[in-house]
Amino acid sequence: MCGIVGYLGPQNPKDIIVSGLKKLEYRGYDSAGIAILDGGKTKRVRAAGKLKALEDKLLSEKFDGHIGIGHTRWATHGAPNERNAHPHQVNGVSLVHNGIIENYMEIREDLLARGAQISSDTDSELVAHLIAEEIVKTADLYKAVQKTLVKIRGAFSIVAFWEENPHQLVAFKDGPPLVVGLGINETFVASDVQALLQHTNKFIYLDDREIAVITGADIKIFSAEGVSISKKSVELNWDPQMVEKQGYPHFMLKEIYEQPRAVASAMAPHVNTEDFSVKLKNVGFGSPVHALDELESESDWKKTQEVLKGIERIFIIACGTSSYAGMVGKYLFEQISKIPVEVDIASEFRYRNPVIPNKTLVMTISQSGETADTLAAIRLAKEKGATTLSICNVRSSTIDREAHGHLYMNSGPEIGVASTKAFTSTLAILSTVAIAFARTREVINQKQEQEFVRALLAAPSQMEGVLAYDKYFDEAAHRLKKYKGFLYLGRGVSFPIAMEGALKLKELAYMHAEGYAAGEMKHGPLALIDENMAIVMLAPHDELYEKSISNLEEARARGAQVIAIGTGDNEKLKSISQYYLSLPPAHWMINPLLEAIPLQLMAYHLASSLGYDVDQPRNLAKSVTVE
Ligand code: M6R
Repeated sequence: MCGIVGYLGPQNPKDIIVSGLKKLEYRGYDSAGIAILDGGKTKRVRAAGKLKALEDKLLSEKFDGHIGIGHTRWATHGAPNERNAHPHQVNGVSLVHNGIIENYMEIREDLLARGAQISSDTDSELVAHLIAEEIVKTADLYKAVQKTLVKIRGAFSIVAFWEENPHQLVAFKDGPPLVVGLGINETFVASDVQALLQHTNKFIYLDDREIAVITGADIKIFSAEGVSISKKSVELNWDPQMVEKQGYPHFMLKEIYEQPRAVASAMAPHVNTEDFSVKLKNVGFGSPVHALDELESESDWKKTQEVLKGIERIFIIACGTSSYAGMVGKYLFEQISKIPVEVDIASEFRYRNPVIPNKTLVMTISQSGETADTLAAIRLAKEKGATTLSICNVRSSTIDREAHGHLYMNSGPEIGVASTKAFTSTLAILSTVAIAFARTREVINQKQEQEFVRALLAAPSQMEGVLAYDKYFDEAAHRLKKYKGFLYLGRGVSFPIAMEGALKLKELAYMHAEGYAAGEMKHGPLALIDENMAIVMLAPHDELYEKSISNLEEARARGAQVIAIGTGDNEKLKSISQYYLSLPPAHWMINPLLEAIPLQLMAYHLASSLGYDVDQPRNLAKSVTVE
């Protein structure tokens, strides 16, 4: 996880690197550092803790020079202190690293045996030592990096410069993402385009085992084995404003409020608002990502339909919040498209040698498109012969590039570590795909398709309606403070939302919460109920409503404290709960989109009232590019 920024060009690198790191702090915030080649000598400043600590230190520092690298760390090897902060420096080589070096113990012992002075507990510093050893022989940073690569194993990206060559930056990727940003007479490198949007919208995405050798404005890409590679740059239309808070106290709150628009953007390319039909737009089965915009939509849709017709089962694979979106997808696909679905957590799927029969579609969901386990899962699925379809937010991310077919959340950049708008946008896109599947396979008729599409189109304004009740969610959050544990309950399509609500509370407010299928309570969790345990019950008016009420009564009879979320002015729910939050009446397919909002807002308000950093919860990072 960790964020990397590198700069080579006529401007002073300090501000460019620090502002880039600010945009990457979501990737890790255990320590930060910067190294700039200034008058032939490398000046390095590092600080433990968040980037602010580094910024404070930098106030008293002056830098000149035109080449530099910076890093914000999510600790893997070695405690989160200044000693272990990047950049690492060995004999004129400065290096930042993201990822894990698996054979670091062996390398460390070898280096120590050769008399190396190792000054940190990280695996990263060892790479700098290996490069420094090679550079003595080759006097060439690129060659030294290349020779080092054969000695290290793992999933990692690095960016380095060498004091003896102030005009060269070398970057290597094998796993965690790296992009090269193209400016006019200047070049940038970063873990994510967000760090560079204010300088350029033109990027080269490095693929695994590619080395970028940046010399002045000249960029050459090689394979790890030294074969020259020609790569196309991609132009993005993301606006740098999208990665600002725009007046909100936190990115997370801004992103929660952006959801109606994000959901509308997710479905917009695929939904016809005149005849209320769905045609998936430029999914591009078999086409490279960079060619998607040039596809002829009608023939692409025919190709997509052919693929969909040949599918007999779906696997949905993802991690965290994206996996809960996948669980909602199971209900949508089974109920709307009548196709069997298995949902798997990527870290389990990749190691359980899954049986993937013929005619299986493996769908992956990943906001970042870089999650290591999800990426490994899609690779495995491809090896086993499955057709793959990715749903990503970040276009041209690794998962997006590796999938056969491509769909997008279209949420705009999501910066808060806790996923919000990417989640609801995914639910919208999954609903759209379920309708497309159902119609293509003729399990619904045109009238039913129109009903589903009308329901989907109504969702953004219904979500606006729910957001308008924020003050009640804030009030409810304050009531939650006094409890020691939480059970989030739901049935059917609301069950994954209960899991997602519990995750939000855990990751933001550091409180213990579990999401449960309400019908499971009597099989164990009822024993947990006492005055310290709160139940957050999702009981929308759907076909399982009566059953949810019975489950709630069972819990209440045992003294449970209840916050209920239901549809409209529901006297019954009011009477059996301490606090009742009402949602507007909606189609069952839309209920998850509405239910997610109070759960996100309650977790947000509770965490911020407790003084926690909601955008950067402790121990977490947004994009999990290590196992
Ligand atoms: O980028 P991805 O969607 O692949 O990320 C998956 C999870 O790491 C992510 O959803 C995580 O669970 C969030 N912190 C939840 O808010």
